[in-house]
Amino acid sequence: MLVLRFTPLPLCLVHLWRLLTLVCGHPQPSPCQQVQRTALCDRKELFCVPAGLSEHTEELQLNFNLLRSLQDDSLLLYPSLSTLSLACNRLETLQSNTFKESKLLENLNLANNVLHMGYQETSQALKTLPRLRVLDLSVNELDDEMAGSLLQNLTSLEYLNLSGNLLKRLDETSFRDLHQLRELDLQRNIMFEIDGAFDSNPKLQRLNLAFNYLPCLTDFHMTQLIVLNASHNNMEWFISRPDLNDSFHLETLDLSNNKLLFFPFLPNHSRLQNLFLSQNSIRFYQHMADNDTLLNSSTVQFYNLKKHEQSNVTAQLWDENLHGDVSSVRILDLTGNQVEYFPRGFMQKMSALSRLRMCSNCLQTLNLTSERFSDSLYELDVSNNRLNKILGDEGPLSALSNLTYLNLSLNALTLLPSGFFWSLSSLRSVDLSFNNIHVCLGQEADNSTDSLSACVDWTDVGSLCQLYLKGCNLQRIPASAFSGLSLTHLDLSENPGLIVDESLESVSRTLQHLGLGNTQTQDLDFSHFQSLKFLNISGNSLVHLPPSLLSLDLRVLDLRDNKLSTIPSDQANALAPKLHTLFLTGNPFNCCQTEWFRTFEPVHMVAQSDLRCEDLFHATHRVERFDTFLCSEEAAESLLWLILLIVPFCLLFVAASVVFLLTFKPRVLQKSIKKKCLKPTSY
Ligand SMILES: *[C@@H]1O[C@H](CO)[C@@H](O)[C@H](O)[C@H]1NC(C)=O
Ligand SMILES: *[C@@H]1O[C@H](CO)[C@@H](O)[C@H](O)[C@H]1NC(C)=O
Ligand SMILES: *[C@@H]1O[C@H](CO)[C@@H](O)[C@H](O)[C@H]1NC(C)=O
Ligand SMILES: *[C@@H]1O[C@H](CO)[C@@H](O)[C@H](O)[C@H]1NC(C)=O
Ligand SMILES: *[C@@H]1O[C@H](CO)[C@@H](O)[C@H](O)[C@H]1NC(C)=O
Ligand SMILES: *[C@@H]1O[C@H](CO)[C@@H](O)[C@H](O)[C@H]1NC(C)=O
Ligand SMILES: *[C@@H]1O[C@H](CO)[C@@H](O)[C@H](O)[C@H]1NC(C)=O
Ligand SMILES: *[C@@H]1O[C@H](CO)[C@@H](O)[C@H](O)[C@H]1NC(C)=O
Ligand SMILES: *[C@@H]1O[C@H](CO)[C@@H](O)[C@H](O)[C@H]1NC(C)=O
Ligand SMILES: *[C@@H]1O[C@H](CO)[C@@H](O)[C@H](O)[C@H]1NC(C)=O
Ligand SMILES: *[C@@H]1O[C@H](CO)[C@@H](O)[C@H](O)[C@H]1NC(C)=O
Ligand SMILES: *[C@@H]1O[C@H](CO)[C@@H](O)[C@H](O)[C@H]1NC(C)=O
Repeated sequence: MLVLRFTPLPLCLVHLWRLLTLVCGHPQPSPCQQVQRTALCDRKELFCVPAGLSEHTEELQLNFNLLRSLQDDSLLLYPSLSTLSLACNRLETLQSNTFKESKLLENLNLANNVLHMGYQETSQALKTLPRLRVLDLSVNELDDEMAGSLLQNLTSLEYLNLSGNLLKRLDETSFRDLHQLRELDLQRNIMFEIDGAFDSNPKLQRLNLAFNYLPCLTDFHMTQLIVLNASHNNMEWFISRPDLNDSFHLETLDLSNNKLLFFPFLPNHSRLQNLFLSQNSIRFYQHMADNDTLLNSSTVQFYNLKKHEQSNVTAQLWDENLHGDVSSVRILDLTGNQVEYFPRGFMQKMSALSRLRMCSNCLQTLNLTSERFSDSLYELDVSNNRLNKILGDEGPLSALSNLTYLNLSLNALTLLPSGFFWSLSSLRSVDLSFNNIHVCLGQEADNSTDSLSACVDWTDVGSLCQLYLKGCNLQRIPASAFSGLSLTHLDLSENPGLIVDESLESVSRTLQHLGLGNTQTQDLDFSHFQSLKFLNISGNSLVHLPPSLLSLDLRVLDLRDNKLSTIPSDQANALAPKLHTLFLTGNPFNCCQTEWFRTFEPVHMVAQSDLRCEDLFHATHRVERFDTFLCSEEAAESLLWLILLIVPFCLLFVAASVVFLLTFKPRVLQKSIKKKCLKPTSY
C-alpha cells in the first residue's frame, strides 16, 4: 500500500489537483466548512470540486458555484460520498467515469444546470451508480429523448425530479427501468400527452404533473398512487377506468386550475380524503338527465397522438353514481366553479366531510335539511354565491354539532332558519358580511313562529367568538344584541350611519379585534376595551383621535381616510411603543405639524410613501420628504435675515438704475424717437 502511494500516478493526480485548484483561483486549504462528514461549499465561486476535504466526507454540498463539468477524476478523493449536491452550477457534462469510485452515492442533486448539452456522456456516468436512490434533474432543458437516455437502467431510483424541463410526451418507454420509483415530480414541463407511461412503476406513490398542458386524464388506473397533483393544466376530463374493481390508495387529488366541466369520475373504491377542484368550470347536470333520454348516455372521444387512434370512453355523463367513492373525503374544495346545486344524496355520501369550500359558485339555495351534511362538518364556506335564503329544520341543524367556521358573506341573504345560531353548538366564527340582514330587535325573534326568520339573533350563543357584519346596511344595533357573548372579533365596518348604542358594552372586556370603519361612528369611549389589539376606525371623518385610545394596548390601528391634521405628540408618544402597524393614508395632515412622523418611525406605517401633507399654501408634499425646517422658527428667522439682506441690495439696485436713467435719459429718448420715425436724420 505504502509503495502505491509513491507511484507516479497518484503524484500526477495530486499535481493535477493542485493545478485545478489553481485554475479555480482558490488557495488551499479549501474554502469549505467541514462539519463532521459533511462539507459545505455553497456559494464559493468554485470552478471544480475542491481538494483538501476529509477523505471520509459523505455529504458534499457544492450548490451555487461555477462548475462546468465533472471529470473522471473529480471525485476520486472522496470515495465515501453518499450525497452530492451540485444544484445551480453550469454543468454541461459528467464524464462517463466520474462515479467510478463513488459506488456509495445514493443522492445526487443536479438541479438548475445545463445538462442538455452533454447528456449522452452524463447518462453513461449515471449508469455506473448502483445505489442511486434520489436524483434531481430539474431545470436542465431536457427534452423527451434526453430524459429517456439519462434514466436508462436507473433501476434503483426511488425519487426523481424532472420539473422545469421540456418534456412533451410520455409513453411506456419513458420510465421503463425505474421499477423502484416512489416519487416523481414532472411539474412545469410542456406535456400534452401521457400514454401508459407509469405501467412499469408499480411503487409510484406521489406524482406531480402540475403546470403542464394535459387536456385530460382518462383511463386512470394507478391504484397504488397516494398523491396525484395535476393542477394548472388544461384538463377537461378526469375519468378513472370504470371496469376496475380494485381499491385505489389515492388520498389526495389536486385538479385545481383546470377546465373541468364535470365533477371528476372517481374510482368506485378509494380512500380519497383531500379533493381539490378549485378554479374549474364544474357544475352538476342532473336536471338534464331527468329531462332528456338522448343525453343520458354519451361517448367521449380521445385521440392518441402516437398510435393515431381514437379511444372511446362511454360514460353516463349525467349519472351521479359516476362520482365514485367519496365516502372518505374530508376536504372538498370547489372554490371558483359554477355549481348551482348539489345532486340528490351527494353530500350524504361524504360522510366524513370536514371542510367544504364552495366560495364563488352559483348556489341559489341551501337546504340543510335535504343536504344532510356529515356531522363532522367543521368548516362551511358558501361565500360569494347567490344565496337568498338558507333552509333547515332544527333536527338536521343541531346535527351539525361540529360546525365551527361558517362563511356566508357576499350573498343576498335575507332569510335564515329561526334559531339558526342556537342550533349550531360549536359555532365559533360566522361571516355574514355583505348580505341584507338585520339584527333582531328585542322580542322580534321570540315572536316569530315561522321556520324562517328575517332577522338574526345570536344572544347567549356562548361558543361564538368571531362575528363579521360588514356591509349589511345595518342601521341600528340594539343594546342587547351581543349580550351573553364572549366575542373576540367583531367587524361592523361599511355600515354608514350605524348606531351601536350600548350594544358594545357587553363585549368590551373580551373584544380583541374591532372594525368600525366607515360607520361614521364618532366619540366612542374605548376605555373599557382593555383587551383590544386591533382597531379599525377608518373613514369616519375623525378630526381628533379619541383620547380613550391612549390607555389601550393596541397593536394595529387603522385611521385611514379621516380628517386628522395632526397627531399631538403626547398621543403619538403614548401609542408608538405598543403599535406595530399603523394605517394613516388619506388624512389632510398639516406639513408643519408632522412631529408624529418621527415618533412613529419604528412602527410599520402601511404605504408610508403615500402619506401626504399640505403646507401653508395648500401645496401637497410627501410627509417623509417634507423638510419641517421650512416651518420652524429658525426658518422664519433666516427668512427675516434674508429679507434684511436683500432689501438693501434691491434698494441699491433701484437707486443705481434711477441714476443711470437720469444720466443717459436724453440719448435713450433720442434713439427711441429715431427708431419710431425711421428717419436717419441727425439733429
Ligand atoms: C441497460 O438496460 C438495457 C436494457 O434495458 C440492457 O440491455 C443493458 O445491458 C443495460 N446496461 C447496463 C450498463 O446495465
Ligand atoms: C423539484 O425541483 C423543483 C425545482 O428545482 C423544486 O421546486 C421542487 O420542490 C422539487 N420537487 C420536490 C418534490 O422536491
Ligand atoms: C400541487 O402543485 C402545485 C404547484 O406546485 C402546488 O401549489 C400545490 O400546493 C400542490 N397541491 C397539493 C395538494 O400539494
Ligand atoms: C362502479 O360503480 C358504478 C355505479 O355504481 C357501477 O355501475 C359499476 O359497475 C361499478 N364498477 C365496478 C367495477 O364495480
Ligand atoms: C368487487 O370487489 C368486491 C370486494 O372487494 C366484491 O364483493 C365484488 O363482487 C366485486 N365486484 C365485481 C364486479 O367484481
Ligand atoms: C327540463 O328542461 C326545461 C327547459 O330546458 C326546464 O325548464 C326544466 O326545468 C327541465 N326539467 C327538469 C326536471 O329539470
Ligand atoms: C337518465 O339517467 C338517470 C340516472 O341514471 C335516470 O334517473 C333517468 O331516469 C334517465 N332518464 C331517462 C329519460 O331515461
Ligand atoms: C368511437 O366512436 C366513434 C363514433 O361513435 C366510432 O366511429 C369509432 O369507431 C369508435 N372508436 C373506437 C376505437 O371504438
Ligand atoms: C328542504 O329539504 C327538506 C327535506 O328534503 C324538504 O322536506 C323541504 O321541503 C325542503 N325545503 C324546501 C323549501 O325546498
Ligand atoms: C370536528 O372537526 C375537527 C376538525 O376537522 C376534527 O378534528 C374533529 O375530529 C371533528 N369532530 C367530530 C366529532 O367529528
Ligand atoms: C369569508 O369569505 C370571504 C370571501 O370569500 C373572504 O373575503 C372572508 O375573508 C371570509 N371570512 C372569514 C372570516 O374568513
Ligand atoms: C309579536 O307578535 C304579535 C302578534 O303576532 C304582534 O302584535 C307584536 O307586535 C309582535 N311583537 C313584536 C315585538 O314584533
